[in-house]
Amino acid sequence: MNIVAKPLERFATNSLESHWMPFTANKDFKAAPRLVTKSEGMYLWNQNGDKLIDGSSGLFNVAAGHGRREIAEAVYAQMLQNDYTAPFQLAQPTSFALSAKLAKLLPEPFNHVFFTNSGSESIDTALKMAMAYHRARGESQRIRFVSRERAYHGVNIGGVSLAGMVRNRETFPVVMPNIVMMRHTWDDKNLFQKGQPEHGAELANDLQRHCETYGGSTIAAVFVEPVAGSTGTLVPPKGYLERLRQICDQHGILLIFDEVITGFGRMGTPFAADKFSVMPDIITMAKALTNGAIPMGAVAATDKIYETITGAAPENAIEFFHGYTYSGHPAACAAGLATLQIYEDEGLFERAAAMSDYFLDAIWSLKDLPIVRDLRGIGMMAGIEVFPIEGKPGIRGNELQKQLFWNGCHVKWTGDTAIVAPSFVAEKSHIDEIVDAFRRTLKDL
Ligand SMILES: Cc1ncc(COP(=O)(O)O)c(C=O)c1O
Repeated sequence: MNIVAKPLERFATNSLESHWMPFTANKDFKAAPRLVTKSEGMYLWNQNGDKLIDGSSGLFNVAAGHGRREIAEAVYAQMLQNDYTAPFQLAQPTSFALSAKLAKLLPEPFNHVFFTNSGSESIDTALKMAMAYHRARGESQRIRFVSRERAYHGVNIGGVSLAGMVRNRETFPVVMPNIVMMRHTWDDKNLFQKGQPEHGAELANDLQRHCETYGGSTIAAVFVEPVAGSTGTLVPPKGYLERLRQICDQHGILLIFDEVITGFGRMGTPFAADKFSVMPDIITMAKALTNGAIPMGAVAATDKIYETITGAAPENAIEFFHGYTYSGHPAACAAGLATLQIYEDEGLFERAAAMSDYFLDAIWSLKDLPIVRDLRGIGMMAGIEVFPIEGKPGIRGNELQKQLFWNGCHVKWTGDTAIVAPSFVAEKSHIDEIVDAFRRTLKDL
């Protein structure tokens, strides 16, 4: 085989071609790139030096605002002290410190934390934890999982198998078997309802129907995002999560809350489980755990789950054959510890709770715009859904995301819905600025 040198100009510093960007229209983006070269507090700066407000706190993870020196310094100090320790049959102190701090923050039955590197890995870990738990109890016949239409649980094969968003799964037909879907909870009877909608608790009975169709004793676990985030903020109808809990209890099914977005104050409480007073058996988390500074995820398990799995293993044997090279990486743990300290010292969850009414009222001020089809929101998280272009769902959303950027605001869109979720350091003036950018962008449509 002849080895032909690649033309050097393809690798010029400013070439955008080498990076195959995730969840991005690569060709479109590279024709007119939107680059962020600096970030601080509520703001980003683009390649032209223009200042933009960050309306989605990155991807809902930069809850304490950008550029937190405390986190950067903690990571730097940790890297000089101990950059890496193999996490299997060996350990380093920061992972214990972070898990203890997390356990303190988590609701009562959650006293055990398994570290991952992302939300997607947390989902895979939770799937395996559920399987290991039932196997340890002699119930390996529980081969089924239940998920929900419009769900987003990340992009690994576990998460894609549980996914309820068509574009995230139609290209990838080979997924886990034995996954059944409940209906999503969006209902036009609930249009423009702030907080938890009145209608739809009965949709939780889809789980009961699956129990009647497949046998409740064949179902291992149900995955739900307490508030479905990536599909555009679907707040659970009143009574819905309570009903899911009830059915799970009746049939010995584990309830798993995917709190990758809702965890760490987004609801004005540490976790959505606290907000809705419904306790799951497993909680997945990631994103705001490190304020977005270093990749990290985690899965919290109750005493019951942890003790059942560890108790079933032979003496001195590994109990859970699962883990990542970077589980509990020292840099991520240092970032997590510094982040949780900021949340505590600055009372950021309480601040999110206190700002929620102002935030939601500001979002609802957009209701008069003819292009707005629905508004949804709770805590510091809202969905602004616009009418799609006839026959072309998602196209308007893509265009609007770009226009908003050039109008001075970054917001994540999924399809035709913007997901607004500012940092908890936001002042009222920042929220006004975000809403003003929306009004300017949407007003003539
Ligand atoms: C609810 C939920 N689960 C899982 C994930 C996947 O997280 P990651 O992108 O860190 O893998 C996300 C990401 O947005 C999410 O919103």
